[in-house]
Amino acid sequence: NTTGLKDAAKTFSVGTITRSSYISAGGRHTEILKEEFNNLTSEYEMKMNVMYPSQGNYNFSAGDAIVNFAQVNGMNVHGHALIWHNATPSWVENFSGTNAEFESMIEDYITTTLKHYKGKVRSWDVVNEALEDGSGHPLRNSIFRQKMGDNYVKKCFQFARNADPDVMLFYNDYNMASSATKRKAMFNLVDELGDLIDGIGAQMHISYNRPSTSSIQAVADGTVSRGLKLHFAELDIRTNPEKDANVSELSATKASAQKDKFKEVVKIYNAIPLDNKFALTTWGVRDNESWLLDFWGVPDWPLMFDENYNKKAAYEGFLEGL
Ligand code: XIL
Repeated sequence: NTTGLKDAAKTFSVGTITRSSYISAGGRHTEILKEEFNNLTSEYEMKMNVMYPSQGNYNFSAGDAIVNFAQVNGMNVHGHALIWHNATPSWVENFSGTNAEFESMIEDYITTTLKHYKGKVRSWDVVNEALEDGSGHPLRNSIFRQKMGDNYVKKCFQFARNADPDVMLFYNDYNMASSATKRKAMFNLVDELGDLIDGIGAQMHISYNRPSTSSIQAVADGTVSRGLKLHFAELDIRTNPEKDANVSELSATKASAQKDKFKEVVKIYNAIPLDNKFALTTWGVRDNESWLLDFWGVPDWPLMFDENYNKKAAYEGFLEGL
């Protein structure tokens, strides 16, 4: 097949997410993965609460199913995410032991996971969403910061680099375009990592009408000027940021505005230098499977395929951005 998004986007990978249950169910979901995408991410099964449910007991079975599917079908895998405050198992949140024991437990976790997936996973989000949204200290006061100190992000990147010198290492966070303050904090954090980091993952949870083109461009420019890879990650484009609980379908106006925003994002990404290119990843295939429905609790249609797997105008927008 030479007509999918992955074929159209000649200079970067096109990614999406999946779940082990979707892989085992097969059907149209797996067909679309094969037709359209060449970079696969686990939606939640390669996070710490799933991979390391209790101390000394690793569980890679769900992640393995996704990685095997990707390998069999010639797709790359982007590992997401080693350290994330929102997917930390309770035994880690309530760790009983010294700070030194906590840190060596984290080193063991990162080392074990990267060695397990060595040669099978091309890239990892080492730390996800370390930055605070508000004012005050730029770092969220997560259990990792509390136990390992303000340089915990760098420590985690060093553990990952030691475990696998070949894998690409990313820092991933949200609101990189919409908040200039957070973007600056992110670039400061990244600058402290020196050559331990290969790339920046800018989560693209955006809306049909914001953030502005120039602020999205600023994320790309800052990444390119640092000589790093750019991952436009977790792309979904809300059509109901007004949070209207009664809207029952995607209007033609919103569909068209969403299409334009998809086009804009792809266009900005496609224009960066080849050396900085990596992947553009959508956070889901079908509208009705999007995490945003639960997260915001209102109807929305944020992806490129409708619930019947039909291509939306957004899909055409992606192609037109190339
Ligand atoms: C979300 C998944 O989509 C959900 O299924 C899961 O319950 C929670 O995590 N930012 C991230 C992603 O980095 O890992 C999140 O994914 C969405 C927000």
